[in-house]
Amino acid sequence: MLLESDEYRGGPRRPSDRVFCSELINDGENPYNVRMFKDLEGFLEPGSDEERLAREIDPTRIPQHVAVIMDGNGRWAKSRNLPRLEGHRAGMQSVREIVETSARVGVKVLTLFAFSSENWKRPEREVSTLFRLMVDFLKKEDKVLVKNDFRLRVIGRRDGLPEKARRELDRVETLTRDNQRMVLCIALNYGGRTEIVDAVRSLLADPTVAAIAAADAAMVVDEDAISRRLYTAGLPDPDLLIRTSGEFRVSNFLLWQIAYTEIWITPAFWPEFRKRHFLQAIVDYQKRERRFGDIQPPS
Ligand code: FPP
Repeated sequence: MLLESDEYRGGPRRPSDRVFCSELINDGENPYNVRMFKDLEGFLEPGSDEERLAREIDPTRIPQHVAVIMDGNGRWAKSRNLPRLEGHRAGMQSVREIVETSARVGVKVLTLFAFSSENWKRPEREVSTLFRLMVDFLKKEDKVLVKNDFRLRVIGRRDGLPEKARRELDRVETLTRDNQRMVLCIALNYGGRTEIVDAVRSLLADPTVAAIAAADAAMVVDEDAISRRLYTAGLPDPDLLIRTSGEFRVSNFLLWQIAYTEIWITPAFWPEFRKRHFLQAIVDYQKRERRFGDIQPPS
């Protein structure tokens, strides 16, 4: 299976791994500035800001994994004198647009923070609306996910989810499990600290660890052993984390995985977030120098 192989750790590519950004359109004038992703053709309005941004992107350095903290639905609604729930409804349009843009740009994993383990503190009506929107999204978009070769993956504590949502998520995960173009990873009832606790518990429950003496067991507890037991096991760590609505915090999201992730924050509320913001985030990401603790970037 593509997504759980070492493909993402720089291993060999398989013939089944489609490379979306390898085909460039070139109008013959300036091959660097005019190149554009074939998959973006027809998706971006000619002469628009989006098109200009797309031309700035180097297709050989697309972040493999983009994670998003979708924030500001409530404030967007408040700024328009609308109920908070309208903010969540409007946010679904951004979800659709960003899923499509990510895939067309060649992102391999898109993780959306849809509901945190702390979000249960919100009014019951808001919580039930969020789950209803998600179930509606899956019922309506399942064929689109299949047609576009997207795989759904859910991360978080599943046992705390409403039964109806759990059934729907299981159904679409199974339906899309062999798809390879992009993983759409939805974080639900998700908390970064809980994830690490669950990983450590799973490690302690591992019969090979339980069978060895405590002193030796310490030897098998390393970063890899924990990574392999996180909800995101098999996925690459995010290269880029986007947060909307101008807040400078990580809010218990992917705490382990974002150790070396580039963070990009926009003042736009999530319902305002469009493809031009996403493309701008990628342009800015490509200007960063990632050194991973070294004094120069890895060769
Ligand atoms: C943050 O805004 C947004 C959320 C907590 C939920 C976002 C979820 C969706 C748009 C549905 C996701 C569905 C799928 C299928 C991915 P906020 O309410 O915290 O806004 P505020 O900070 O302005 O109050």
